Amino acid sequence: MACTVAVETEIDRHYAAQLAQLADEEPALRETIAQFQAEELEHKATALDLGAEQAVAYPLLSGMIRAGCRLAIRLSERL
Ligand SMILES: [Fe+2]
Repeated sequence: MACTVAVETEIDRHYAAQLAQLADEEPALRETIAQFQAEELEHKATALDLGAEQAVAYPLLSGMIRAGCRLAIRLSERL
C-alpha cells in the first residue's frame, strides 16, 4: 500500500503537468487524462485507507519509490 501511494502521487503530478501543458488544446485528450488521473487518485485513497502510512520506514520508503518514479517518467519523456 505504501508503494501504491508513492507511485500514484507521482502519476498524479505527471498527469497534472500534462493537463497544464495542454491548457485548452486537445479537449478529448484532456478528458482522457483527467479520467485516468481521477482513477489513480482513487487508488491512492484506497491505499491510504488500507494503512499505507503505517508501513515500516514509510517516509524513507515513499521517498525512494517516488524518486524512482520521477526518474522513470523523465526517461520515458526522452525516449
Ligand atoms: Fe493505479
